[in-house]
Amino acid sequence: MQLQAQRPNNPLPTQPLSDFLGVEVVGTDLRRLIEQRDCTSVLDTIAAHSVVVFRDQTLTPSEFVEFASLMGELEWHVLDQYRMQDHPEIYVISNITQSGKPIGNPRDGFGWHTDQAYLARPTAYTLLYGVETPPEGADTLFLSTHGAYERLQADVRRSLQGLRTVQSYTYMREGNQAYRESNKVTIELRPDQRDRVPDVTHPLVRINPTNGHASLYLGGDSFASIEGLEETEARALIDKLVAHALNPDFVYNHKWQPRDVVIWDNRETMHTATDYDRHRYRRHIWRMSVRGEVPF
Ligand code: SIN
Repeated sequence: MQLQAQRPNNPLPTQPLSDFLGVEVVGTDLRRLIEQRDCTSVLDTIAAHSVVVFRDQTLTPSEFVEFASLMGELEWHVLDQYRMQDHPEIYVISNITQSGKPIGNPRDGFGWHTDQAYLARPTAYTLLYGVETPPEGADTLFLSTHGAYERLQADVRRSLQGLRTVQSYTYMREGNQAYRESNKVTIELRPDQRDRVPDVTHPLVRINPTNGHASLYLGGDSFASIEGLEETEARALIDKLVAHALNPDFVYNHKWQPRDVVIWDNRETMHTATDYDRHRYRRHIWRMSVRGEVPF
């Protein structure tokens, strides 16, 4: 197993948000870490708890980009129409319109998934900043795919070794009916956008190099098939694993407050957006992703 070089572990002070994953970091202003140009304590806290929440952060788009860049190489979202004009690293999710034009993707992230599993080097970390958040609804739910793997019987774990899933962005947007309905997909991909995301395969069980955790790497909406298995067999297996992973005891339900920064490790979690009253409330989220390694 190829693990990252060990360095001193220095997590931030936290309080738990659920029994299994997710912590709130206490007393840390991300702007201080930007000044110090050091995010190792944040990486260590994520390695220990998978999902971290920083409350009441005041960040400009440049500061948010600067902080995320400390965590690694940034990944630009394929739907470039929703990237912030002056800061294209930031992808905007919002129901707000300006001069009749949406300022971001009004509906994104519905259905359990890990981010950008359809890339050869999928997202390691996702960062969301809640610029405006509704007072009710729009929770983001997280589950631990590491916990899900650990709870499998040993013979089931053995049977998954060596299996590789096919992850496909075009299948997700054009063929996956459940995804299309829950995300109300109407956007057609341009040929250049389609070219950026050819289908890829990834191990069904992957190792997180930051902490050695083995996790189910299911992908979610972009899951198209499993190499070497019939379509119905592959679908039945993945549905069984997703149902197993969806144990409410291992889910953290994030209730947004304005100015929350939420960061998670996609290598050992899945997440889903939930709905809110879009006629009554405004939601404005900045999102960034940090590229990970080729999964192993
Ligand atoms: C996402 O899936 O990245 C967004 C989740 C959310 O908006 O709650």
